[in-house]
Amino acid sequence: MDKFLIQGGNVLKGAVRISGAKNAALPLLAATILAETPITITNVPNLKDVNTLVKLISGLGVTISYDNHDVVKADTSTLSNQFAPYELVKTMRASILVLGPLLARYGEAKVSLPGGCAIGSRPVDQHLKALEALGAHIEVDAGYVHAKVDGRLKGGEVIFDMVTVGGTENILMAAVLAEGVTTIRNAAREPEITDLANMLVKMGAKISGIDTDTLIVTGVERLSGCEYAVVADRIETGSYLAAAAMTGGCVRTTHTDPVLLESVLEKFEEMGAEVTRGDDWIELDMQGKRPKAVSFRTLPHPEFPTDMQAQIMAVNTIARGFSTISETIFENRFMHVPELSRMGANIEVEGNDATVTGVEKLSAAPVMATDLRASFSLVLAALAAEGETLVDRIYHIDRGYEKIEEKLQGLGAQIKRVSE
Ligand code: UD1
Repeated sequence: MDKFLIQGGNVLKGAVRISGAKNAALPLLAATILAETPITITNVPNLKDVNTLVKLISGLGVTISYDNHDVVKADTSTLSNQFAPYELVKTMRASILVLGPLLARYGEAKVSLPGGCAIGSRPVDQHLKALEALGAHIEVDAGYVHAKVDGRLKGGEVIFDMVTVGGTENILMAAVLAEGVTTIRNAAREPEITDLANMLVKMGAKISGIDTDTLIVTGVERLSGCEYAVVADRIETGSYLAAAAMTGGCVRTTHTDPVLLESVLEKFEEMGAEVTRGDDWIELDMQGKRPKAVSFRTLPHPEFPTDMQAQIMAVNTIARGFSTISETIFENRFMHVPELSRMGANIEVEGNDATVTGVEKLSAAPVMATDLRASFSLVLAALAAEGETLVDRIYHIDRGYEKIEEKLQGLGAQIKRVSE
């Protein structure tokens, strides 16, 4: 199993190119199932999760090529089944995103339930309820969702009980081919949903209310292929800016968009960092200072994203002062806390609230990555710690951060991958 060996103490400086967003690439790949003619997606990050979905779609019989650089081409004319097996779905919850498009285009789908996950139970009840509202017959049996519809799905009213990113994406991909009008209320507004909606429109879908919490979809009979570039990864952007804040450095993230992460940039400014925004870049200069602690609560977009919680908590561990962090999206998303504590952080957790009292220095210790974003928080802690930290189980990081060690080395970090 690969590990990272990180020597702390270097001040990170320089520019880093941000990749396409994993959380946008996955629904866009699922949406290729809807296209009757070949479709090309560019700026696709080379990540384990992307490879898993490419494998799953290829298993459906779709002719799909991924050059492992950044281009995916898919041709659905060879699709031969609508079955997504447990072996692939269990490694990645987002596999459930093929359910909506398969059902909408082929009238049937059998997709394994994603099951539990380290950061909470994460059920898919909202996805299923929404598809039923469009006329799908759904049975859950032996760990599989079996969805069927006689003829086409019928447009209807969908009201989500909670804001769900995957649920909104699944129903949006189903509604674009349904007969009539679908109204999706309490829809998630994450930039990755906007990206999906924009690609669907390019394919011929009729969607209004994009970027709002009410999406109105007028179904069409068919969608065609197109060429589309994945939006920049706002979480990767924020993570590298956090590395500058953590080490007192100055990092410019390029090929990104400040509009995607305003709530996070505001927190960096509150820390005392100088944040400069360009059209497609963001620079954070900590000017050698120790950051000031910042309190926040995670909420659906455009509020502070849960996927940046662990990284900003890491910065708070070495900040001046005291902060409180409330996690309202997922239960059990503080698994990085015991690991950060092993490095000398002072954090107390009560339910979904954490209080952090900044310390002057962290110290190296062997630590273990527990989930994707939590792992980056450990890398951040290691970059600022005294001594050499070994971060174990970095397969979590490889799911979502493209070329992480190359990118960090380019900024002056001492990080190397060791395999056993
Ligand atoms: C997506 C992101 C993930 C991010 C999360 C919240 C992808 C591939 N992943 O995950 O990185 O952390 O949004 O921004 O885009 N819920 C239910 N029933 C459902 C669906 C969700 O109870 O049917 C709950 C979940 O357990 C969770 C909350 O709703 O507590 C939000 O989940 P959701 O927005 O659906 O997250 P994902 O789409 O899985």
